[in-house]
Amino acid sequence: MGVSALAPRIFLKKRMEDLSQLDELYHLISLDVVDSTNEEAARLAREGAPAGTLVWAKSQLGGKGRRGREWISPGGNLYMSLILRPNILLTQAPQLSFVAAVAVFNALCFTLPQTAKIHMKWPNDILVEGKKIAGILLESSAQGDMLEWLVVGIGVNVASSPGKVSFPSTSLHESGATHASVEGVLKHFTDSFKRVMEEWSGEGFAPVRKRWLEFAWCLGEKIEVKTEQELLQGRFADLDESGALVLETGKGEKRVLTAADVIMGFPT
Ligand code: BTN
Repeated sequence: MGVSALAPRIFLKKRMEDLSQLDELYHLISLDVVDSTNEEAARLAREGAPAGTLVWAKSQLGGKGRRGREWISPGGNLYMSLILRPNILLTQAPQLSFVAAVAVFNALCFTLPQTAKIHMKWPNDILVEGKKIAGILLESSAQGDMLEWLVVGIGVNVASSPGKVSFPSTSLHESGATHASVEGVLKHFTDSFKRVMEEWSGEGFAPVRKRWLEFAWCLGEKIEVKTEQELLQGRFADLDESGALVLETGKGEKRVLTAADVIMGFPT
């Protein structure tokens, strides 16, 4: 036997998360391919699926982004949608997109090199070095003014990014987390989401808002915002108690925006 066969070898092995170890809060439904995990979760929610049902697919054929945009969904990235049924007013539902954004942010902080600059961009994107790495899409059903169910859909670019779509993008692998796995991010997200959700249930929106503001992209800076009707420029002054963006447009005038896209920022 040659010496080389006896020599010790080091294999750099990707750590595969054991997803049977997810917290008992979650009921994982794992699919190879689906139209959209949000669509599937909404179908299940309508049929009465319990809170904590988590639909995860390896790829999507009709992935959906905010404002009717497409979410390109090849294998290698994370696509998941979580059903929630909190007993809250429909108007409080946006708070849960910030709960989810903070949980994704925490999961990515855990995964990326410590030097990476990670931010949350209003309303609920995650950026690394100013490029989009994750997005969140909420869909809901109401009974009167109460929320009946909420689907929190999350896409994380793990292995690849779509390049410049509506905003520059990146992935975990491109951002230095070369060994990151879809399963690992899913596990870190579910652990963090449980903690942040407990905090939100116990203490309300304030601690979530505080954490979000701490890592908000372009807070206090000049930004450009596109609503359905207009293009606005101003200073990103605050996130209000409902999750709306407060924009100072000049001469003391403030606009409170609940639905819009921040299309450009001018970080100093
Ligand atoms: C956005 O930034 O526009 C939101 C993107 C949300 C994408 C995720 S991927 C999993 C889930 N299923 C979908 O069809 N969309 C969300």
